[in-house]
Amino acid sequence: MCGIVGYVGPRPSQEILIAGLARLEYRGYDSAGIAVIDADGGLNMRKKAGKLSVLRDSLTEHELAEGTTGIGHTRWATHGGPTDVNAHPHLADDDRLAVIHNGIIENFSALRAELEAEGVTFRSETDTEVAAALLGREYRKTGDLQSAFLAVVNRLEGAFTLLAMHQDQPGLVVGARRNSPLVIGLGEGENFLGSDVAAFVEHTRHALAIGQDQIVSITPDAVTVTDFDGNPVEPEPFEVSWDAAAAEKGGWPSFMAKEVAEEPEAVANTIRGRVRDGAVVIPELDGLDDLFTGINRIIITACGTASYAGLVGKYALEHWARIPVDVELAHEFRYRDPVIGADTLVVSISQSGETMDTLMAVKYARERGARTLSICNTQGATIPRESDAVVYTHAGPEVAVASTKAFVAQITALLLLGLHVGRVRGSLEDGAASVAELEALPAKLAHVLESEQGHVAQLAGWMADTRSVLFLGRHVGYPIALEGALKLKE
Ligand code: F6R
Repeated sequence: MCGIVGYVGPRPSQEILIAGLARLEYRGYDSAGIAVIDADGGLNMRKKAGKLSVLRDSLTEHELAEGTTGIGHTRWATHGGPTDVNAHPHLADDDRLAVIHNGIIENFSALRAELEAEGVTFRSETDTEVAAALLGREYRKTGDLQSAFLAVVNRLEGAFTLLAMHQDQPGLVVGARRNSPLVIGLGEGENFLGSDVAAFVEHTRHALAIGQDQIVSITPDAVTVTDFDGNPVEPEPFEVSWDAAAAEKGGWPSFMAKEVAEEPEAVANTIRGRVRDGAVVIPELDGLDDLFTGINRIIITACGTASYAGLVGKYALEHWARIPVDVELAHEFRYRDPVIGADTLVVSISQSGETMDTLMAVKYARERGARTLSICNTQGATIPRESDAVVYTHAGPEVAVASTKAFVAQITALLLLGLHVGRVRGSLEDGAASVAELEALPAKLAHVLESEQGHVAQLAGWMADTRSVLFLGRHVGYPIALEGALKLKE
């Protein structure tokens, strides 16, 4: 997934953009680039294949004129290989307009052919340059970037977050999103856009969530959001509950080691506020009992680690809520013809809240009349916004690609959900004892991490050169064995 950051304000933007991109590095990428509008109203761009350090070195070697309006991007190649030319930003309107993009524009070949027939030539192999050319064409008609977005976004199919700026409109960055994340960061006399709050959390924790199919314009003093037809929309405010330090290694040798150590806290934070008088009561599900009473089946859908957490959830929900549960890999779900309807609750699980297959499974379930609930770790992400209800895991940012603390937080949320649904459906027996066990989990996890550390390190050393390992497990140990095997492979 690409990283996106945008800035308008009084400060020189290059370092803000690069630092924002550095915080998004955990997403994985193969090239990076920035564009800024300088004090003389000129648009300057630099982009490089490789790590952010390659871009940084290039900017040190050959300075780029500084400016206070800018956009930055880290790319993970989809259309066209990871080269300087294919890296973002892409330019249009005689290099006066710059565009960055996350996602895939599915109808880009047809659009490219249309533009080529009009005489447009392309420099890259990307779908993004097609969007840039369309925006450039529309901009020339009106001289207004927001109007250009309104004319273009409805022509694009697929998933996209687009950010653009034009040198004739300094102090303005316009963005749009469909099936791909984008959030607004609100500063004092400055504003930010990011594919993730990590892009700007160093500067502000006040954020606005942008809904599906919406366009946002930021200037230093104002933020406006509309739908794709230009109707004004009130974006939803939220506070980022963690600070920049939480997204850094904090002295650990790796993000993964740090995140494993944070497991007790992740579990404790996920339970916090959800136990009342010895019973699980999830405030986010207040008034939503009919999600659980009018159904005869639950499908849990997710990918990878989250699907293994889902398998643990199956045991919990079947045991406490006495309702049949199937676990489906999200990447298979919509490609067959599953039997679902109004009597089915589809529970999706996603750390990021953005995994495309999981998102598409949720949309598919909704289209077929199923009720949907998501378990998610990322506020303002797309999957919870597309669901009827959400139970957040409060694991904090998970930076390591190999999921750890999010996994235990997902299991915790599923145990809470099982106890909640069991209580609502009246099938729960002796809930108080299970709730007490649940509340004891963080201390038990901390004890295991502390007391077993030496033993685990010894075992890891012994296993390091092993050619093959077999993980065995029964009951909830079975999904844990699957997850253990995945962790070792990763
Ligand atoms: C494994 C891992 C992946 C993710 C999967 C789903 O360590 O990280 O298997 O679990 O890609 O991602 P989310 O939970 O973000 O939907």
